[in-house]
Amino acid sequence: MIVAGSASQSLAVALSAATGRDLAAVSFEAFPDGEWKVNVGGSDADGGGGDADSTPELAGEEVVVVASTVSDRAHVELLQLQDAVREAGASGVTTVIPYMGYARQNEAFLSGDPVSARAVARAISTGTDRVVTVNPHEETVREFFDVPATSVDAAPRLAEPLDDLADPLFLSPDAGAIDLAPSVRDAYGVGETDHFEKTRHSGEEVAIEPSEAPVEGRDVVLVDDIVATGSTMSESIAVLHDREVESVTVTCVHPLLARNARLKLARAGVDRIFGTDTVERPESVVSAAPVIADAL
Ligand code: R5P
Repeated sequence: MIVAGSASQSLAVALSAATGRDLAAVSFEAFPDGEWKVNVGGSDADGGGGDADSTPELAGEEVVVVASTVSDRAHVELLQLQDAVREAGASGVTTVIPYMGYARQNEAFLSGDPVSARAVARAISTGTDRVVTVNPHEETVREFFDVPATSVDAAPRLAEPLDDLADPLFLSPDAGAIDLAPSVRDAYGVGETDHFEKTRHSGEEVAIEPSEAPVEGRDVVLVDDIVATGSTMSESIAVLHDREVESVTVTCVHPLLARNARLKLARAGVDRIFGTDTVERPESVVSAAPVIADAL
């Protein structure tokens, strides 16, 4: 049985198709004071009616909760889903976190800082037997969970929409994403790989140092784990256009595309943007479901 978080409904449907597991009925509701409430397989989930303590479809089931923690509300919602599933008598709970929020706060950067990734991982661990993440910002965040945690690589899925590239160059915008460009190139089948060097000056200010790889007249595919504010990618695109690139496609596993990221990318001259459905956006044209299914 698959239980979907509100931000991962499309991915849960794809995962249901990929695994043959049924989708549980789930509903989401906000109280007037802003607090959030879910209902799993019970009286509210299919539109009302029924007994508040009858949740027969989950009793004795191995349940997979699929919920990207894209917001603070989504974090609370995940804890609620886990609690409801346990309460309904699930025999086991696997929590799939396609996009793990707070994973980039994986260390205490200043004296007095929390390790936020550890804090949320510990909370999530209380309601599950194991965790599956997709391209977490750093693999080390898996160690913050108190239950077995694995990660899967959805980057090869990003090759699927690419076709007829001219002399392609697969480029990571920084050394942190150095393994992702070869991963997409290998799935595409042909092309060179390289990476830029990035220095981050603040949340939205980055400087990109280009590589020596020739880009003139080539189709370049930029590959990163996350596009958040779009600063990393827009600076990279600007560098490429200074060097008379033929086209620039921006790809990422997690297309957060926060605030004015799309405008930044458009103004920088991007030709195409797409990502996976770990974060559900109009640009989420490929599904991470097949690689998640393999890990279940
Ligand atoms: C950072 O190391 C990540 O790999 C991404 O490059 C970064 O999170 C992108 O953030 P933004 O879109 O805000 O530049």
